[in-house]
Amino acid sequence: MIWKSGLAALALAALASTAIAQSQEVTLNGLTGDADAGAEIYATDCRGCHAVSIAPTLRGVINRPIASVVAFPGYSDALKAKSPETWTDANLDAFLSGPQAFAPKTLMVKVVPDAQQRADLIAYLASLPPPRS
Ligand code: HEC
Repeated sequence: MIWKSGLAALALAALASTAIAQSQEVTLNGLTGDADAGAEIYATDCRGCHAVSIAPTLRGVINRPIASVVAFPGYSDALKAKSPETWTDANLDAFLSGPQAFAPKTLMVKVVPDAQQRADLIAYLASLPPPRS
């Protein structure tokens, strides 16, 4: 009996992780983003600013209006000028490939020139939980 419910739990866990993996799938420019690879890039290239108050939280960033984190007072006028738009996958891709081209004079200086890395990062951002309230 115990092993049977253990198996059922395993099957459920497998189902759940499949569902999560699917919800993280992002396809951009014909490239499929890998959230795990994106997590590693985030840890080295983004977290230093975005996990602290130097930069806005990226939790829930997908489809969020640009420059809209109320708890972050430091947005540039450059990014605020883009605020009628939202962070679609395509906008994130454009911003990360050239922040200064997307929003001239933005304070975001990090460039991710590699399209696969951008797809991976966006898949990772899509997998994040909503911001802590
Ligand atoms: C040196 C610090 C720094 C690093 C490193 C950095 N960022 Fe940023 N990021 C910022 C700042 C500051 C802003 C606000 C920019 C503005 O207002 O012009 C920002 C804004 C953003 C925004 C817009 C958020 C919003 O609420 O509109 C996104 C998306 C973003 N960064 C993604 C990333 C990603 C992905 C990485 C890693 C590849 C990264 N950033 C690395 C400092 C950083």
